[in-house]
Amino acid sequence: MCSSSVIYGHKVDLIAMLDTTVVQEFQEIVGTNHALQEEALTATYTADWTGRFQGKSPMVLRPADTSQVSELVKLAARAGLSIVPQGGNTGLVGGSVPLNEEIVISTLRMDHCEPVDVLAQQVTVGAGTTLANAQAHVSPFNLDIGVDLAARDSCTIGGMIATNAGGINVVRYGPMRDQLLGIEAVLSDGSIISHLEGLEKDNTGYNFPGLLAGSEGTLAIITKARLRLHPRLNERCSAMIAFKTVDDAVVATSQLRRTLPALQAVEVIFGEAMSLVSDHIGASVPVGLGSQAWLIVEVAAANDPTDQLANAIDDLGPLAADVAVGLDTATRNGLWEYREKITEAIATQGTPHKLDVTLPASRLSEFVNEVPSLISTVDGQATAVMFGHLGDGNVHVNILGADGNEPDEGVDDAVLNYVAELGGSISAEHGIGTAKREFLHLNRTEAELAAFRAIKRGLDPRGILNPNVLLPPEDS
Ligand code: FAD
Ligand code: MLT
Ligand code: ZN
Repeated sequence: MCSSSVIYGHKVDLIAMLDTTVVQEFQEIVGTNHALQEEALTATYTADWTGRFQGKSPMVLRPADTSQVSELVKLAARAGLSIVPQGGNTGLVGGSVPLNEEIVISTLRMDHCEPVDVLAQQVTVGAGTTLANAQAHVSPFNLDIGVDLAARDSCTIGGMIATNAGGINVVRYGPMRDQLLGIEAVLSDGSIISHLEGLEKDNTGYNFPGLLAGSEGTLAIITKARLRLHPRLNERCSAMIAFKTVDDAVVATSQLRRTLPALQAVEVIFGEAMSLVSDHIGASVPVGLGSQAWLIVEVAAANDPTDQLANAIDDLGPLAADVAVGLDTATRNGLWEYREKITEAIATQGTPHKLDVTLPASRLSEFVNEVPSLISTVDGQATAVMFGHLGDGNVHVNILGADGNEPDEGVDDAVLNYVAELGGSISAEHGIGTAKREFLHLNRTEAELAAFRAIKRGLDPRGILNPNVLLPPEDS
């Protein structure tokens, strides 16, 4: 067994700190090839996607199936070890990495997709299935997964459930929680709950899928999910619309949501993000150079929705400063590149603080306009790069410090307090993780936090599942 005060932050031989019998037992469960111990092998599992959160782990375990997860959890509980469940490690709030030398249970081998149930329009997939593989699995049946996001090649269905991921199609299908019809998971004592029948109506007590969606690995390790599927809408048209002001973009978003039945996505890129991403991809701003905001709007339907989009854009009148339309796949992908490459573009500039927030529609433009000066009062050298899912009121505020360094810690406090003051949420879709748990009280009352703790104690009495995540420490 390991002792946290000795290991964390020191160059010690972590492997030696685990009881050799325990190591052997772990190896017997998953096989020696899937019980990783050397730092060279565990490194990609211990640092997060942004590089901001770096931990260490005595062991990364890669189980093949639910019963192996169950055995691992029983053994960890007996040995007094804490666990960080991990999927694709694309999370952006530091929740997927072992910050206090926990063991990591990676779901990546649990990527089996069961046959598509075309009659019910559902599928059961392993938690470690990447989103792209799940999409590819169902698309031959003209069906689609309701949630889509730029990390699709790496993020897993289990991780998307655990974070209640949002992405670009929430305006049409809702977030991950809305796609769930059943779940299989391993609880903190190793017991397995499995409810994968996929009945549309099933009021037999508490809803585990709903509870585990957004639980960030703190209540159970998800091993399989039964997902609702949607008809695949192959006829698509996208447009990039430039706006002189943020307010114009907000008003136009509301109008497009009212007038476009085929609306699939309404994404936004603000000024700083547009100049960064266009430099990054080596292309000029397609329309409306010097604008304050650009929307990427996509419509999708069984029959060509181009006229629908063209009419809706016409109806925007002088609100829209300029428009570029993508009819064929290559042009549409070209427009989407400006949106989907922003996260990567920011990462080339340094280590940002990623604040992912939702605002009420009536306060959105005020927020976006005020944030840069709010940040500069705390850290004069910090810059804010903003973009997001405007159809959901979701703005991603990425704050970069001087020379690629992290900004002053106080910027998080200033922005998140401002969000709460305006009636918004401090986490729209990325979760609370480690990054935001000290701010959870801004959105949740004492009574809610007490209820959260009661749920956590009920399902994980020893506190071994992702202990650094979501809930603020008891003494804070
Ligand atoms: P991980 O990062 O491995 O884990 C995330 C959390 O879930 C951790 O707390 C972990 O402990 C827990 N977890 C993982 N698997 C399980 C499991 N099987 N059981 C229990 N707990 C588990 N997010 C959005 O919501 N919308 C976006 O549009 C979006 N775009 C992104 C674009 C890029 C380029 C990147 C890098 C990230 C983006 N993200 C987005 C964030 C990220 O992809 C999502 O949070 C995703 O859901 C994480 O999935 P993952 O498999 O990588 O999970
Ligand atoms: C996105 O919408 O692209 C993401 O959530 C990723 C990010 O916030 O960087
Ligand atoms: Zn997002």
